[in-house]
Amino acid sequence: MKNTVVVGAQFGDEGKAKITDLLAQKADFITRFQGGSNAGHTVVVDNKKYAFHLIPSGILYQNKICMIGSGCVIKPDDLNKEINDIVDKGISLEHFKQCLRISPLAHITMKYHCDIDGYSESELGKNKIGTTKKGIGPTYTDKYARIGIRVEDLFDIETLSKKLDIILPKKNKELEFVYHLKPYSKEEVLLECAQYKKILEPYVDFNWQENLSKIKKDKTILFEGAQGVMLDVDFGTYPFVTSSNPIAGGAGVGASMGPFAISEAVGVFKAYMTRVGEGAFITELLDETGEKLREIGAEFGVTTGRPRRCGWFDAISARYAVLVGGLTTVAITKLDVLDKFDKIKIATAYKNKKTGEIVKNYPTNVYTHTDYEPIYETLDGWGEDITQCKTYSELPVNAKKYLSKLEELLGIKISIISVGPDREQTIFI
Ligand code: GDP
Ligand code: IMO
Ligand code: MG
Repeated sequence: MKNTVVVGAQFGDEGKAKITDLLAQKADFITRFQGGSNAGHTVVVDNKKYAFHLIPSGILYQNKICMIGSGCVIKPDDLNKEINDIVDKGISLEHFKQCLRISPLAHITMKYHCDIDGYSESELGKNKIGTTKKGIGPTYTDKYARIGIRVEDLFDIETLSKKLDIILPKKNKELEFVYHLKPYSKEEVLLECAQYKKILEPYVDFNWQENLSKIKKDKTILFEGAQGVMLDVDFGTYPFVTSSNPIAGGAGVGASMGPFAISEAVGVFKAYMTRVGEGAFITELLDETGEKLREIGAEFGVTTGRPRRCGWFDAISARYAVLVGGLTTVAITKLDVLDKFDKIKIATAYKNKKTGEIVKNYPTNVYTHTDYEPIYETLDGWGEDITQCKTYSELPVNAKKYLSKLEELLGIKISIISVGPDREQTIFI
């Protein structure tokens, strides 16, 4: 396998973890490159379900190194809980100590970041983003404001102490006077950092420069994206986005290896669409068809448990995702969820309700999205169970027609089709 990046190509929850877990079989090194525990990634192996948030979805294999890259943000107590939950499912702590690595350059989500995320969301009221309240936005904000705390800082108390003398007066002013929240004393923050150091210590790779140089030279690397192109801070439905770059372009930076370490970008698309949180979603179905998709697809968030909004496949945003996401090939997931639909729709253009104009390029100003309605092409469903299909030729004719239509609209090839949550329920083309 070529070095590959797995990118969510819609609003997240496309089934990226399943695809990462599958491709990880052929990789030596699997690395997350952005996001934090806002992600909720499900991997099903032999009917056993594992939920990952920050740990790369390749962790279930022996002898593969899984890294939380420099572009990620880490809330150590959440990571600790995640590890313990997986240990409870039978994966040993020793396995994590052998296989999990953390970049010293990743940023730490502090308690005050979560306080701010929660508060600013409630203050926004009906204009809220609908974040996961995991402190992601405030952590990245501090990173770019150059007042963040990195993993390596936890291991150098002298520098940390000096940094806190700069960070805390600013942060406390913000907490008290902007958000009316409780300020933090230096002692409290140092104590918090000491606890975090203890949690992260077994996994931090201080020798990362040498290790990554070796890995880059002769190992197969899989880059695992979280969230999705339409939640990307530059290209998504801004401002209703996350605070990082889930696109393939984000992988070179966030995995500390540059763009030429990557040869292939798999864009993962659900056969329909879902979204959690607020923001535009032009093909959203607020009727019983949307309800049926949610029910059959079990569309509830892994991280927050929120019901996911559901709608038909939007080929306009999908084509846009191919472009800005830097996708070279496609995985279609949850095709089986459409088994019981007589008619299946794909949005192939938008119509501006005010002007009548037909639009085929994605309108990047989301505040105009209420002006648009989707123009659908309707295809016949296949009305049979496809969850046991093992090859492309076994798929019903109408399922093949649906896939061909998607391929035509996307302009790049579909190479993976997922017909159920299990590893086995996958068709490679
Ligand atoms: P991710 O965040 O992109 O990794 O996706 P999530 O794990 O949040 O959500 C995808 C959900 O769909 C999970 O519950 C998966 O187990 C499930 N899933 C993945 N692929 C398939 C599929 O082909 N068919 C069905 N029915 N479920 C799938
Ligand atoms: P995975 O990796 C779906 C959404 C939130 C909110 C917006 C910003 O499982 O696909 P944040 O907490 O990141 O500041 O929230 O982004 N969001 C996700 N939606 N899947 C995810 O991750 C998401 N991570 C964040 O619902 O709308
Ligand atoms: Mg998810």
